[in-house]
Amino acid sequence: MRLTVIGTGYLGATHAAAMAELGFEVLGVDVDPAKIEALGRGELPFYEPGLPELLRKHTASGRLRFTTSMEKAGAFGDVHFIAVGTPQKAGEAAADMTYVDAAVAGIAAAATRDSLIVGKSTVPVGSARRLKEIAEEYAPAGIHLDFAWNPEFLREGFAVEDTLRPDRLVVGTDSRTADQTLRRVYASALTRGTPYISTDFETAELVKVAANAFLATKISFINAFAEVTETVGGDIQTLADAIGHDARIGRRFLNAGVGFGGGCLPKDIRALQARIGELGLDKTMRFLNEVDEINMRRRDRVVFLAEQLLGDLADKRIAVLGTSFKPDSDDVRDSPALDIAGRLYGGGAEVLVYDPKANENSAKRFPRLTYVDSIEEAVQDVDVVLLLTEWQEFKDMKPGDLEAFVGSRQIVDGRNVLDRVDWENAGWTFRGLGLKVPEVVSART
Ligand code: UDX
Repeated sequence: MRLTVIGTGYLGATHAAAMAELGFEVLGVDVDPAKIEALGRGELPFYEPGLPELLRKHTASGRLRFTTSMEKAGAFGDVHFIAVGTPQKAGEAAADMTYVDAAVAGIAAAATRDSLIVGKSTVPVGSARRLKEIAEEYAPAGIHLDFAWNPEFLREGFAVEDTLRPDRLVVGTDSRTADQTLRRVYASALTRGTPYISTDFETAELVKVAANAFLATKISFINAFAEVTETVGGDIQTLADAIGHDARIGRRFLNAGVGFGGGCLPKDIRALQARIGELGLDKTMRFLNEVDEINMRRRDRVVFLAEQLLGDLADKRIAVLGTSFKPDSDDVRDSPALDIAGRLYGGGAEVLVYDPKANENSAKRFPRLTYVDSIEEAVQDVDVVLLLTEWQEFKDMKPGDLEAFVGSRQIVDGRNVLDRVDWENAGWTFRGLGLKVPEVVSART
């Protein structure tokens, strides 16, 4: 069986390399010639741990190749995976389906034999049925195309692991042959006992958005309680630990902080609301508005804490440690950390930024921030240090590591990863998300 993967971003490049690792011959397809050339040379245009090694291994073995030609893809593949993006439409909450529609039409028109098209992108419910019709309309006479929806749950930073060893496989289709073909594609995971959920198109599409909406809600739930502990006192981490011991709740995704970002959670909850609204169920997903708003208020809180510590942002020097939306990624799409850095700059501060992998991507969006290559350079003479993405090297920081460099001993821990007592004992003013700000001592003589 030969596979194609159409779209070679985070999802597609990982899927293509992982399928080659599983022993298939794979052709990756993208409209961007520069990306295709780089991938063909075994070079990954973004940071993802473990993926460069896999890519090099299989471009060298010849099992993984890349092209910009749909014709070649149509002639090559028995199964075509659609892995192009569905970004948020400019100025709207809905997902932009242009790329998925074009990919399905393109590969259907190029097919030279009976084959299977499998959607992996995150799409509004109802898309798979519509896309199946597009495929049938574009298929050359006499060629039969099966259709399936097989959502992807990979997390950035763990993309290779999640693709090679998924925790579940979900396949929505109306074709027995399609289901059997995908069971062969995923045979190694099935042998290990990975749950395989065979269902209809709508359920498969909804599983993906339901999972992401649930995760986003969990994060905003704990962040809403962070707003409460910021007011009444208390410890948000202990609260999360304590409720997390209840197996029905679970501790994961209950870390309060600057909130969720990235290429999936924010846009997926917005697209879900937009789609469900279109279906006339205006009230059904309205709670996701609140989830989004709680999430955005976390950014305001960090800016507020910085302003409170500095009096006024104008002409202050601020260190921002971390701009990627999460550690082990260079992705800054909808990153709370980068947004905060930009707002501080907008308030008149000089912002020194250090991210172990995301400086380059950040600079494309916010060229006016000052990008440096180490913690030491970032904290040089600053009035406050903000830890906004929990990279390991920031979690490992001790007060003594920074004291020779900073102007003032003030730190905001936006991810609840530092030991407050250690920092306060070393004479630092410490602020955290979910932490009550101590009363300001005004009558100092
Ligand atoms: C997510 C889903 O987890 C994945 O299944 C889906 O396929 C794509 O979207 P990803 O975007 O890679 O994956 O990131 P994830 O690990 O889910 O984190 C999302 C955001 O939530 C990050 O900004 C992270 O910092 C934040 N987060 C996560 C919290 O603020 N608190 C937490 O407890 C967990």
